Amino acid sequence: LKRAIPSIEIRAAVNNDVEAIARLAGELGYPSTVAQVRARLDAIEGDAQQAAFVAEAPGGEVVGWIHLSQVCSLASDPRAEITGLVVDSGIRGAGVGGLLVERGETWAREIGLTTIGVHSNIMRERAHSFYMRLGYAVNKSQKVFRKTL
Ligand SMILES: CC(C)(COP(=O)(O)OP(=O)(O)OC[C@H]1O[C@@H](n2cnc3c(N)ncnc32)[C@H](O)[C@@H]1OP(=O)(O)O)[C@@H](O)C(=O)NCCC(=O)NCCS
Repeated sequence: LKRAIPSIEIRAAVNNDVEAIARLAGELGYPSTVAQVRARLDAIEGDAQQAAFVAEAPGGEVVGWIHLSQVCSLASDPRAEITGLVVDSGIRGAGVGGLLVERGETWAREIGLTTIGVHSNIMRERAHSFYMRLGYAVNKSQKVFRKTL
């Protein structure tokens, strides 16, 4: 990957990372408390169909994270989905996002999946060119419906 910082370590997210993960979730546009992130990470760690990885800088600072899930459907074979990805705004464009996606793709292959996708908001134009450069192609555009229960 071009411009990748060799000293960045990509590793599984652990409990100690929750504060950094919460801060970066805010940068992604999903403000989250440390307690919320801790509960979510606990659930992820107990589920073989999900994974979360962080990017750690040489000083130990967590500068990005990716969350992936296996998506199951009666209509199609299981596939991997990038359900969250963010890199610290101070270090974007240095290859960290590419490293996180690469690690996520390896995880997906390891659990036997052959397709990976991501839903990205129509507003995130820079993220779209990022995914295209990594070999992702637009499959379809959708409206996303929600209902509060
Ligand atoms: C998208 C994102 C994860 C990419 O991480 P990254 O470490 O900057 O990515 P890389 O350095 O590996 O790749 C850089 C490419 O990402 C894209 N990019 C998207 N947003 C960018 C930003 N704010 N700054 C720099 N590059 C950005 C560009 O296409 C860039 O390519 P270029 O350098 O040729 O212009 C990161 O920019 C980010 O966290 N953006 C905000 C949150 C977001 O959109 N997440 C994806 C949700 S689906």
